[in-house]
Amino acid sequence: MILPIEPGAVYLDQLSCVFKSAGKSVLAVDSVTLDILPGEFFTLLGPSGSGKTTCLRMIGGFVLPTSGSVRLGGHDVTHLPPYERAVNTVFQDYALFPHMSILDNVAYALRIRGMEKAARERKAHELLELVRLPQVAGRKPNELSGGQRQRIALARALISEPKVLLLDEPLGALDLKLREQMQVELKNLQRELGITFIFVTHDQHEALSMSDRIGVFNQGRLEQVATPEELYNRPTTRFVADFVGTANVLEGEQARHLAGASLAMLRPEQIRVGGQQGAKASGTLRSVQYFGSFVRLRVAQMGQAEWIVDQPLPADHVPEVGKTIHLHWSSQAAHGITAGAYA
Ligand SMILES: Nc1ncnc2c1ncn2[C@@H]1O[C@H](COP(=O)(O)OP(=O)(O)OP(=O)(O)O)[C@@H](O)[C@H]1O
Ligand SMILES: [Mg+2]
Repeated sequence: MILPIEPGAVYLDQLSCVFKSAGKSVLAVDSVTLDILPGEFFTLLGPSGSGKTTCLRMIGGFVLPTSGSVRLGGHDVTHLPPYERAVNTVFQDYALFPHMSILDNVAYALRIRGMEKAARERKAHELLELVRLPQVAGRKPNELSGGQRQRIALARALISEPKVLLLDEPLGALDLKLREQMQVELKNLQRELGITFIFVTHDQHEALSMSDRIGVFNQGRLEQVATPEELYNRPTTRFVADFVGTANVLEGEQARHLAGASLAMLRPEQIRVGGQQGAKASGTLRSVQYFGSFVRLRVAQMGQAEWIVDQPLPADHVPEVGKTIHLHWSSQAAHGITAGAYA
């Protein structure tokens, strides 16, 4: 039986984008194949310049792929303009119209569609309720805080009832506290509405805490697609191990001995400081960094990359810099990195 494809499904098939500038070609997105489920909170995570925005723009219809295709709800939309796709975008700078009231900003898409004033304003008020800002309808964008502007941008994008919402670093301009608050709000809103969110960030904490699944980009390619938990505990490439969280990477004989692989990873919180007996490694403590709920120790061992060890606080004893310390971990803790790039 063939099941009907739900409108919020997004399928990218070998999507590539080559930019030509100043006589040179840049392969911004390199043959990305990806299946995003309806109602999923999917995050594109990667360092600056890795192709996240370009990928999002191809889904939104703002950039034409060099090759490959984009399907929304089972329909090939590769060559459709943005306004003919059931997607909408929230941009990092929010792109609100400064001279229009908040209500008019939110109602904008409905005005363009020719909906009459009373109806579109009623709908805009509903959206302002949804983002919990009914009181600002008459104000102008410059009379709002950053977090409020962010919510208005969201309301404006949601008013046209997209099946898929694209969000390009939407929390990038907010301070940390507000950012964390908005992460929770945005996630709750997405769950409530049940629409597909494709969210771009370079912040691994943000990605881990909000997403159903994450696709990690590196130089235009998708390195791994997995749930946050899988990505953190079972990265398939060294790049992912390093980029998502902090990793101690073991190589050669040590990795073979400890993880049965030629490359292995050990997270800093999996290592304990203990006595000499039975220690898996020993070295000189180089620094102690305080983080509130834990301290991060850096331990130098001859011929070895520095060990990074997180010790939870409060602790009975935090060792002194310059001392020799001994490191322990359980044999299951080391994770062997065996597979190649995501294909
Ligand atoms: N219009 C363009 N013309 C030429 N090159 C471009 C263009 N847009 C992007 N690029 C290049 O394509 C690559 C990917 O850029 P993209 O903006 O997709 O990265 P990103 O992952 O979103 O980065 P950031 O985290 O900094 O926003 C980069 O090397 C970038 O310089
Ligand atoms: Mg970008």
